[in-house]
Amino acid sequence: MCGIVAYVGNKDICPLLLEGLKRLEYRGYDSAGLCVGTKAGFYVKRAAGRISVLEAAIDDKMHGDKALVGNIGMAHTRWATHGPPTECNAHPHMDDQQRVALVHNGIIENFASLKQFLTEKGHHFSSETDTEVLAVLIGHFYQGDLAKAVQLALREVRGTYGLAAMAVSEPDTLVVARRGSPLIIGVGKDEYIVASDAAAIVEHTTQVVYLNDNEMAVIRPGGFKTMTTDDIPVTKAINEVEFSLQQIELGGYEHFMLKEIFEQPEAIANCLRGRVDLHEGRVVLGGIGAYSRDVVRARRIIITACGTAWHAGLVGEFLFEDLAKIPTEVEYASEFRYRNPIIEEGTMVLAISQSGETADTLAALREAKDRGALSLGIVNAVGSTIARETDAGIYLHVGPEIGVASTKAFCGQIVVESLLALSIARRKYMSQNVLNEFLQAIIKIPDQMRKVLEQSSSIRDVTAQYIHRENWLFLGRGYNYPVALEGALKLKEISYIHAEGLPAAEMKHGPIALINPGMPVVFVATRGSQYEKLLGNIQEVKARGGKIIAVASEGDDYIHRVADHVFTVPETIEPLQPLLTVLPLQLLAYHAAVLRNCNVDKPRNLAKSVTVE
Ligand code: M6R
Repeated sequence: MCGIVAYVGNKDICPLLLEGLKRLEYRGYDSAGLCVGTKAGFYVKRAAGRISVLEAAIDDKMHGDKALVGNIGMAHTRWATHGPPTECNAHPHMDDQQRVALVHNGIIENFASLKQFLTEKGHHFSSETDTEVLAVLIGHFYQGDLAKAVQLALREVRGTYGLAAMAVSEPDTLVVARRGSPLIIGVGKDEYIVASDAAAIVEHTTQVVYLNDNEMAVIRPGGFKTMTTDDIPVTKAINEVEFSLQQIELGGYEHFMLKEIFEQPEAIANCLRGRVDLHEGRVVLGGIGAYSRDVVRARRIIITACGTAWHAGLVGEFLFEDLAKIPTEVEYASEFRYRNPIIEEGTMVLAISQSGETADTLAALREAKDRGALSLGIVNAVGSTIARETDAGIYLHVGPEIGVASTKAFCGQIVVESLLALSIARRKYMSQNVLNEFLQAIIKIPDQMRKVLEQSSSIRDVTAQYIHRENWLFLGRGYNYPVALEGALKLKEISYIHAEGLPAAEMKHGPIALINPGMPVVFVATRGSQYEKLLGNIQEVKARGGKIIAVASEGDDYIHRVADHVFTVPETIEPLQPLLTVLPLQLLAYHAAVLRNCNVDKPRNLAKSVTVE
């Protein structure tokens, strides 16, 4: 989605802003622009397409007063909503009197009525965007005090925003504000870097201030002030960002997705670190803290999430019902928020999100909280909005995920759900022996993952044989049914191949009609309670000429006789199988995308963090 970087300080601002934008590229965008305050006024440049196009358009040969040096500036990557991705619709937008510049993430829902109001007042517009309406509105209220004008304008606005604004006649002032779209202020030595994502900040400083909804800041070279958008002063704590620059660089890999797939053994070891006490035979979850009694007493769990996190939630449904014996439902956040959900006493809502900023998940969480649910976050991005708004939570600690296709977060989410289910179960029904067995199995997972990943090149070779097939099926049962869904999502989102994931038994209720000779059908077919039944489903596909690609347990000789291709995973207990079986499917999707020359890390139309509805 859209990205913001803004700077107040004394570094060479243009390269700094462009570098910041590049750090946000992974979030998805289709045009970009920047505004630098120079001695001769604002230098604004915008371009459709990649940041490199913007870079090429920037006239860095300007001299004298117009030289592209300045101590204040802001830049933006736009992901088109209102109007196509053209230069004219790209940010920054100036007001119609060229006094105020604005970059904005989010959506101004009442932009049409505001536009009409402003048109009647004699203002005019040059783009199709909702952002320009806000820029003109700020300009309309501007009387020499930018912060005041922003406050007055925001009073009229319905919708979401993370924004940064500059005024020509206040050349040392940057005003930023947020509601529903993240904004972080990096606090360096004599410099401030504001961004919608910490990835654009960490190379300058790890000290940050997270703005909450309806908060804003006025930043000048000598310092910054924070207040609500109603002008009530607020004191903000300075936090430390957990990740380093190295973690958000490619480190020799061709793509972030591949790096993140291969990072999983390490990432899962980090996720488990300090949480599994083998000596005492217990699970330690510090993030639950004061709420641990309420968590154990929960009578019903509602998991709410989107996309891959929703698939992890489906695995969670098995875990919480199987291990903790708590009735659990998994809800698409986008549906949950607009239903009239029943939240009884004893309901615990788990919001699962890698980014912690997904608009639908956040809205579902707020809905559940308003109705009295205890809320827990299972989040990767430390300090993100969901992490801050839940009553308690457990971070994934799998490190930043840059590739748009979520991989290591999925496994981290399952590990955290497992640990939470175990810690509840042990305080209710689970014997120490059963818990010990589970803990012994979970700590082996990182090494077992390494073994699975060794098959990457043979997965590539098999994928290459079917790369021209436009329809794939992914089937699994029990704990591996969500893995089948996840395998299909991975393939379609980065290689643009149509793929459907299903519980294997559902196939004969319709999708079996799709199977024709040569169609690739991926079965997640590890040994477990439903293995025999799954073999039956394999035969049904074979009988119709489908090609079977199986993910199976090591040592399963039989599967080699029925499947055309087999990738193996080491034996583990059934609830943990998804952590291994998903890996070949992630690699399959990755190789398919590379073989089809797709942009793996920035697939078309997609954004890393979906901060609009
Ligand atoms: O940041 P979140 O985990 O809340 O994101 C949820 C989905 O947008 C995300 O998982 C999406 O489906 C990914 N592109 C899947 O790879």
